[in-house]
Amino acid sequence: MELILDTADAAAVKELNETLAITGVTTNPTIITKSGKTPEQVADQMLEVLSDDQLFFMQAVAEDYEGIVRDARTICALRPKNMYVKIPVTPAGLKAIKTCKAEGLGVLATAIYSADEAFLAAMNGADYLAPYVNRMCNYGDGVAQVKDLLQMLAVNGLPAKVVAASFKNGNQVHELIKAGIQAVTVPPEVVWGMVKHPGTQIAVTEFTEAWQAAFGRTTFAA
Ligand code: E4P
Repeated sequence: MELILDTADAAAVKELNETLAITGVTTNPTIITKSGKTPEQVADQMLEVLSDDQLFFMQAVAEDYEGIVRDARTICALRPKNMYVKIPVTPAGLKAIKTCKAEGLGVLATAIYSADEAFLAAMNGADYLAPYVNRMCNYGDGVAQVKDLLQMLAVNGLPAKVVAASFKNGNQVHELIKAGIQAVTVPPEVVWGMVKHPGTQIAVTEFTEAWQAAFGRTTFAA
């Protein structure tokens, strides 16, 4: 399972990179515009904190076919490897995905609201499929649709990986990991929510206090 961070905040990525096994980072136009940085600044800062083996995803902004392909080439030229363009699965986007894959670019099909959209993008060769789990819940059961998608890809032998996106809480992430999802992209605060169970710190504090009372120090090493 690949754990990807959904953020334009390089400091948050650095911190989680030191703590957990992170596969890479996704951004989208909203995340970048909210960051107060230019896309170039976000890319520069992110590439400083990511290793060459970690993946980085930026999104095409143009809505027409030619514009999407131009954006895709620009994005994929940002680094020699492990750079992916995110392309929304509009009709123009699906056409652009075919072209980008014919050119050998890394592609993540995004803004996916149904298993069918995702499946057709996989048939066009997309490497990753990003269903917007939380937003899909406005139209039905997002988690169930993604489980359907996993089955559709498996029975048809399509190699695309599903990177479930648009999470608002750890339970949604948990359900999809249990269902065998290949990847998730999660905002740093949601990841931390999955790590920092209050009971863990209470247990650690108990251990430290007992140790201090018995041996007069708070470390194993004297
Ligand atoms: C990630 O690839 C998506 O762009 C992102 O998860 C969308 O999340 P949102 O629904 O919070 O905008």
